[in-house]
Amino acid sequence: MLVLGVETSCDDTAAAVLLDGRAVLANLVSSQDAVHGPYGGVVPELASRQHVRHILPILDGALHQAGIGVKDLDGIAVTRGPGLVGSLLVGLCVVKGISYRWGIPYIGVNHLEAHLVAIFLERVVAFPYLALLVSGGHTLLYLVRGFGDYRYLGGTRDDAAGEAYDKVAKMMGLGYPGGKVIDQLARQGDPRAIAFPRARIKRGSCDFSFSGLKTAVWHHLKSRGDGWDSERADIAASFQEAVVDMLVTPTLRAAEEVGANRIVLAGGVAANSRLRERMKAEAEAKNFAVHFPAPALCTDNAAMVALAGHYWLTRGRKDDFRLNADADLTL
Ligand code: KG4
Ligand code: ZN
Repeated sequence: MLVLGVETSCDDTAAAVLLDGRAVLANLVSSQDAVHGPYGGVVPELASRQHVRHILPILDGALHQAGIGVKDLDGIAVTRGPGLVGSLLVGLCVVKGISYRWGIPYIGVNHLEAHLVAIFLERVVAFPYLALLVSGGHTLLYLVRGFGDYRYLGGTRDDAAGEAYDKVAKMMGLGYPGGKVIDQLARQGDPRAIAFPRARIKRGSCDFSFSGLKTAVWHHLKSRGDGWDSERADIAASFQEAVVDMLVTPTLRAAEEVGANRIVLAGGVAANSRLRERMKAEAEAKNFAVHFPAPALCTDNAAMVALAGHYWLTRGRKDDFRLNADADLTL
């Protein structure tokens, strides 16, 4: 079965072709980082316009790379939420048009579900597993008991982890998006140089909080005046260590509480080298297995959307043309 995946929920225009739910024949992403960079964050109206400009070339590119034509497709999967409504509508409307013109069934996919199951593009993981989804828009913990069977365990009470990275990078003039830059800069710094605070959420809760840390970095920069430039690597490393502490500790606690001995990371922040290193070491010390998708499958991509769509399409589900985008779609 050949499934085309389409992802336009935020600022990446992505298309992928997946064969039989396993083989990724093409996985293309057109990034808008250069467009949003000067603003230090995603500008929704600009994002929609960029999607309109790039969606057809990206779709053509994916079909070309997979060596197939549109008539070879057995189904199409498109993200229908959550995300920016203007961005979501571009992908959804284009997919409806292709589906109508060529008579190909299509299905709207939940972006969060796509992230949670992305690991299956690389390996089979036995259920149940604990999934930590950390991106620019989300910091969520789910117990994944099977495809379509997700138990919410906790989430951020304020900023998402990736949002904290992006805002701190903006304060430090490091550009947008900030996660990768801070990750690289932190390698030259001392993670214990500055004692940034760790939010403590009461025991029994699997929630997260990052806004206090972000404010602490802001106060630190202010207190140094122009003098912090020489300690930028230490600031990056100390900030990152605090984020990683606040992600690893609740995740391991949740894994113990629900009795899941497999942990899967997903979302853009799961590409972070320090998070990968520490989660692996600390989870394995407790005899938990840890799996991370390759960075290109952690950040927003259409292969994961095609995978989730493949699952539902092969179970006979498809959507009709009344389906709408849902910016606040939950799992
Ligand atoms: O999943 P994603 O591509 O898009 C969203 O759905 O948000 O995640 C993007 C987020 C951004 O906040 C970016 O700064 C962060 O992931 N990110 C990282 C790294 N690479 C991307 N954060 C920390 N370390 C990284 N290496
Ligand atoms: Zn995402």
